[in-house]
Amino acid sequence: MIPELRTLNSELNIMKWTTPKIKALKGEQKFAVLTAYDALSGHYADEAGIPLILVGDSLANTVLGYQNTLPVTMDEMVHHTAAVSRGVSDALIVADMPFMSYQGTLDHAIENAGRFIKEAGADAVKIEGGALRAALVEKLTANGIPVLGHIGLTPQSVKELGGFKKQGKTDEEARKLMDDAMVLEQAGAFAVVLECVPAELAQKISTALQIPTIGIGAGPHCDGQVLVFTDVLGMGQGHVPSFVKQYADLKPQIQQALAAYKADVEQGVFPAV
Ligand code: KIV
Repeated sequence: MIPELRTLNSELNIMKWTTPKIKALKGEQKFAVLTAYDALSGHYADEAGIPLILVGDSLANTVLGYQNTLPVTMDEMVHHTAAVSRGVSDALIVADMPFMSYQGTLDHAIENAGRFIKEAGADAVKIEGGALRAALVEKLTANGIPVLGHIGLTPQSVKELGGFKKQGKTDEEARKLMDDAMVLEQAGAFAVVLECVPAELAQKISTALQIPTIGIGAGPHCDGQVLVFTDVLGMGQGHVPSFVKQYADLKPQIQQALAAYKADVEQGVFPAV
């Protein structure tokens, strides 16, 4: 798009993705969701036309050097969500509520969710869990805070789940996940992430719901797909799940460029005389 037009559009907020617009994609257009963690990654995702950017709590292990998502704090998530907001003009920005920011009282959860909207410029929040979260989802949406649900493999419960395993493999687990998805929809969630569930179950849930499902490791039948920024670009440091599709291999290129710069300086080649 012509930059001036893009600026004008964004000043008038014409291009801005909203939760009703995301819901309206259901059955019309499959859509890509990407995580972002700062103004730069947010800007790249936005420029690519990604309609929904998730400031995932994967911030913890992809960018902040933690082992998993459990240690990341509200202040860290707010800080990084605000940075993403500064780099994004069109995409809907969803902030991931970190571990123990919403599992306690409803009042504490609402206060924390409100911080993402007021202080960080987020458009919505994501919370992990199904029927257990119904009251919270109702309360947040009733108070003007849109919610993205997240069921299946919920990494904040890794200690309870006993590892990063596929969920919904037995009939009973599958029924529970279907029920969780329906309850989240009834409670007012605008979409639901399905992480690491069998493709047939994701298809059944996607058909049963009026709101979009967003899959990760959940097969091709979801309404949207979400991937982690560093995984897509081949910049990660650790294990990359088998369901990830890598669209570039930037890590070796970055390493090569940095080694060349170091060598140039050490050998007096840069700066040129
Ligand atoms: O934190 C995250 O990146 C996520 C997505 C992968 C769904 O929760």
